[in-house]
Amino acid sequence: MPTKSPINTSGQPATIAYKRPRGTLYVGDSLHALAHAPLTKYRGKVQLVFTSPPFPLNRKKKYGNLQGEEYVEWLAAYAPRLTEYLTSDGSIVIEVGNGWDAGQPTVSTLAIEALLAFKKKAGLHLCQEFICFNPARLPSPAQWVTVERCRVKDAFTRVWWMSPTPRPKADNGRILTEYSGAMRKLLERGTYNPGTRPSEHQIGETSFLADNGGAIPPNVLMPSASAILQEILAAGNETTDVLSIANTSTADPYQRYCRENDIPQHPARMPMKLVQFFVDFLTEPGDLVLDPFAGSNSTGFVADLRDRRWVGIEADEHYAYTSEERFKQYELTGVNPLFGESPRSAAKNETAGRPGMPVVVRSRPAESGASRRARRG
Ligand SMILES: C[S@@+](CC[C@H](N)C(=O)[O-])C[C@H]1O[C@@H](n2cnc3c(N)ncnc32)[C@H](O)[C@@H]1O
Repeated sequence: MPTKSPINTSGQPATIAYKRPRGTLYVGDSLHALAHAPLTKYRGKVQLVFTSPPFPLNRKKKYGNLQGEEYVEWLAAYAPRLTEYLTSDGSIVIEVGNGWDAGQPTVSTLAIEALLAFKKKAGLHLCQEFICFNPARLPSPAQWVTVERCRVKDAFTRVWWMSPTPRPKADNGRILTEYSGAMRKLLERGTYNPGTRPSEHQIGETSFLADNGGAIPPNVLMPSASAILQEILAAGNETTDVLSIANTSTADPYQRYCRENDIPQHPARMPMKLVQFFVDFLTEPGDLVLDPFAGSNSTGFVADLRDRRWVGIEADEHYAYTSEERFKQYELTGVNPLFGESPRSAAKNETAGRPGMPVVVRSRPAESGASRRARRG
């Protein structure tokens, strides 16, 4: 396995880091790779591009970042390339964090400008904007939040769901959340107060009395209380200042493996529940999911757990190769990090919807490593 190496932006063809039954991870510069074989065989076949590009940070992360207008142009250049890969009802979902201007307590608008430039460059529709709220995030930027105390902590990332069509494939019935206690009581009681609300909404006699198996989630995504607690408890073991929802040591055997074997972990791993939300919402089993900034391949791994096919491209060889441990550790331990517990309790938690965010109640649990091994005999 190669050790840490600089990002490959040399325009060489992408090479295969590893192949799994449902997907392949390539190493290379994705902008170049998407324009050439072997990636071009996926054109027109991708149902969902789900990705978190390098953020336009002022302080450089390990994998490097472009700044200013250069960043905006660079990200926008991906729009037409990725759009060519979509099916006729496919979607592109991009997560970006907030950046701050250098040396002063003002927020950079670069991420928003880059998203707008991306959307415009390929004539995409903005289907919906989501906010991914992480209350367990450490207070940052420290200078403004904890030293000078003139700003509050920055605790969300922005997620844009775009598509070349205004009506891409989507079904919120696949991502229903648990009903609140009040709603469950209402369903049991079978009556409530109809009439006109101050908002001028007309509430009919039976408007809310059908049990649809769960609530339709809002476009603000946040972790469950247990996931927040796990985040806080795990914070002492983390070497990064970015705490991600349900990226806890207890939940993820891959992270435990990296720590125990002194393998540097990706500094900006995506919350798995965030990936699951969009994979479940916008694709069906068998569909193809692409991540052009795969990092530790959270997207491919979650897509795999949800019975989807996947393809990823990552420029950094170290992150690309070590991410295969996600799959190996899952096969070895049978622990599904979407639940953070043993497969025995995974099925139970699928209906209880914990830990993490959002709380998915209706979707079917993918097969565990242990049961797969048992089936193979
Ligand atoms: C925000 S991270 C993605 C993290 C990933 N979602 C995960 O959960 O691990 C962005 C990734 O893009 C990679 N990257 C940067 N430039 C790239 C390029 N031109 N082509 C492919 N990958 C690139 C970085 O090495 C980094 O791993």
